[in-house]
Amino acid sequence: MACFLSFFALLTVFAHAVRADPYNTFDGPGFPACNEVAAVYHPTTMDEMAALVRNASDAGVPVRASGKGHMWYDTMCTDDPNTVIIVTEALAGISNFTPPDDSGVGSLVIEAGVTFFELADYLHEHNTSIGYSLVNWNITVAGALAMGAHRSSLSQPADVAGAAAAIDLLLANGTFVHLSEAEHKDTDDWRAATTSLGLLGIIARVTVKIYPEFKLAANQKILAEKDVLEGDIYGMINPYPTANFWWWPGVKKFHYRTYEIVPNDADGEGFQSTFSLSEFEGNTAKTLLENGANSSFINLSTESLFFSIWSAPNFHDKNSDIPALFWPVNGWSYDSLIGGLYPDTKPEWDYNLRGKTLELAFPVTQANAMLTRIRELFDASEADGHLMTSTYRSGINIKFGQVFDDLLSQTSTLPQDTDADWSKGTIMFDFPTYLPDSGERYNEPFYATLAETLIDEFPCRPHWTKNTREVFQRSVKNLDPDILARFAAVREHYDPNKTFASVVGQIIGVV
Ligand SMILES: Cc1cc2nc3c(=O)[nH]c(=O)nc-3n(C[C@H](O)[C@H](O)[C@H](O)COP(=O)(O)OP(=O)(O)OC[C@H]3O[C@@H](n4cnc5c(N)ncnc54)[C@H](O)[C@@H]3O)c2cc1C
Ligand SMILES: *[C@@H]1O[C@H](CO)[C@@H](O)[C@H](O)[C@H]1NC(C)=O
Ligand SMILES: *[C@@H]1O[C@H](CO)[C@@H](O)[C@H](O)[C@H]1NC(C)=O
Ligand SMILES: *[C@@H]1O[C@H](CO)[C@@H](O)[C@H](O)[C@H]1NC(C)=O
Ligand SMILES: *[C@@H]1O[C@H](CO)[C@@H](O)[C@H](O)[C@H]1NC(C)=O
Ligand SMILES: *[C@@H]1O[C@H](CO)[C@@H](O)[C@H](O)[C@H]1NC(C)=O
Ligand SMILES: *[C@@H]1O[C@H](CO)[C@@H](O)[C@H](O)[C@H]1NC(C)=O
Ligand SMILES: *[C@@H]1O[C@H](CO)[C@@H](O)[C@H](O)[C@H]1NC(C)=O
Repeated sequence: MACFLSFFALLTVFAHAVRADPYNTFDGPGFPACNEVAAVYHPTTMDEMAALVRNASDAGVPVRASGKGHMWYDTMCTDDPNTVIIVTEALAGISNFTPPDDSGVGSLVIEAGVTFFELADYLHEHNTSIGYSLVNWNITVAGALAMGAHRSSLSQPADVAGAAAAIDLLLANGTFVHLSEAEHKDTDDWRAATTSLGLLGIIARVTVKIYPEFKLAANQKILAEKDVLEGDIYGMINPYPTANFWWWPGVKKFHYRTYEIVPNDADGEGFQSTFSLSEFEGNTAKTLLENGANSSFINLSTESLFFSIWSAPNFHDKNSDIPALFWPVNGWSYDSLIGGLYPDTKPEWDYNLRGKTLELAFPVTQANAMLTRIRELFDASEADGHLMTSTYRSGINIKFGQVFDDLLSQTSTLPQDTDADWSKGTIMFDFPTYLPDSGERYNEPFYATLAETLIDEFPCRPHWTKNTREVFQRSVKNLDPDILARFAAVREHYDPNKTFASVVGQIIGVV
């Protein structure tokens, strides 16, 4: 009977796509990652995942993997309503711990569903870390790696993909292939597999490089806007293992965050949180932001409030949960760089604080020109009666990336079609903005103008999960057709039937 039922279910799902619901991002209903999908599966073993993929591809059904849905727009799948989603959450095994040897590097094997949070806990217990190749906590390493995610550093590897020593890909026909950096370094196969946009197959396992655990001192200064716009930006970021800016255009200031290594026996176990809010903070922010859309007074006061809150350390003591009051703050690597959620708080999106974002990468050599151009656009908008402020609790995020030569990484020097010099690294402009309950993002027309101006005037590259379809479409002209063709050739080899296609892959012409 069970057999009969599942066969029937399979027929309906694969053949008729009766259940064409959206598959949502972490923001929930109203925020589709895929507009229509036929089914969402939660396999609990690798074999089950392989069988699901094989069954789907045998039926000509498109498949996408999903980690935590930590993305912003409807770009995960294609628009084929037969698509099935394979959620990797339950495949969270960690194995083969090999401690760092004399070279300082060890390794560990993680399955697709392992999040940074789980990995960091495991590594800290084993006196190890993944260095600076990390992003936020409740995101899968495989999902971040697939999409070229990165932290912020010019002097250290900052792409999550840089952490990979090997990748096991699950292909459409249900077989696994093992690709390792040792065997495939500098081949197009490796350079496509490490920033694959999920287009070759499902990243089933990753062997990550690990390092001895270390402590960092986080520090932060406030800079006048012109000190950054006219400053030596490379010189401010490069000396640190990781550093970034947050821009507050209404109050015309920047926060300048830096981290330095301190001895492992230095005092302090600071724990960072970017998204933790108490109920009171969450509700206050919600009221201010809902009312700020049409009032310069309210939106400027909101920014000033966010700015002053963000000036204090966003750190608590890991053990006592007591807030840190003064910079610098010492902490273990992951606690210091990312941290997590404080006790009795919720992330901002659980208070219905929704945002949309736009993220573009530029050669760091053009950092001053790019930020100055954006300031001109802010000024023009203000002259038009639309004061531009940051409506995000941590301002506009300005990050950096060391060169990482993948075919599709934002930080690659492989593309040859521009006059731009990417060899010093990249600067990323990540502008999240508030989305009120009414549904129209603050200053919507401004964001379109901003994106178009930047894409048309600078050799910039889109972040693969933080942009709309329109931004990808307009960005194609800045991408090197030869590099896209090389990626497409690898994609054709691993996924000839285009089982793992996505809107992003379609727009940039690689599927
Ligand atoms: C709060 C927040 C903070 C963030 N911070 C950063 C940051 O600091 N830096 C940065 O660069 N990015 C950041 N991101 C973006 C994030 O890293 C990416 O969107 C990442 O891809 C999300 O991973 P996920 O596990 O949630 O996967 P999902 O959102 O579920 O999927 C993202 C994409 O990856 C594909 N995918 C997922 N898993 C696999 C797999 N196993 N194999 C193949 N393809 C797969 C999916 O099909 C989809 O196309 C942030 C996002 C959020 C929401
Ligand atoms: C794959 O399809 C077969 C029938 O063709 C079915 O018996 C099996 O349960 C399916 N596997 C999964 C994981 O759905
Ligand atoms: C952790 O690793 C560091 C760096 O290798 C070493 O100095 C320290 O003794 C280790 N601590 C423990 C508890 O193993
Ligand atoms: C992580 O995401 C899961 C849902 O995928 C959620 O249940 C869990 O509470 C989240 N954890 C944190 C710390 O936000
Ligand atoms: C591609 O699809 C065809 C027809 O469905 C199938 O016979 C073939 O095995 C598939 N190829 C791969 C590599 O999955
Ligand atoms: C702001 O104005 C727009 C257009 O008039 C309106 O749709 C929206 O509801 C207003 N928002 C607030 C919070 O008043
Ligand atoms: C702030 O309020 C003004 C109205 O005075 C509005 O034009 C502008 O769009 C608002 N700015 C932001 C960032 O919401
Ligand atoms: C599965 O597909 C890959 C990629 O097309 C191919 O190289 C491999 O031979 C196939 N394996 C089987 C068992 O069909």
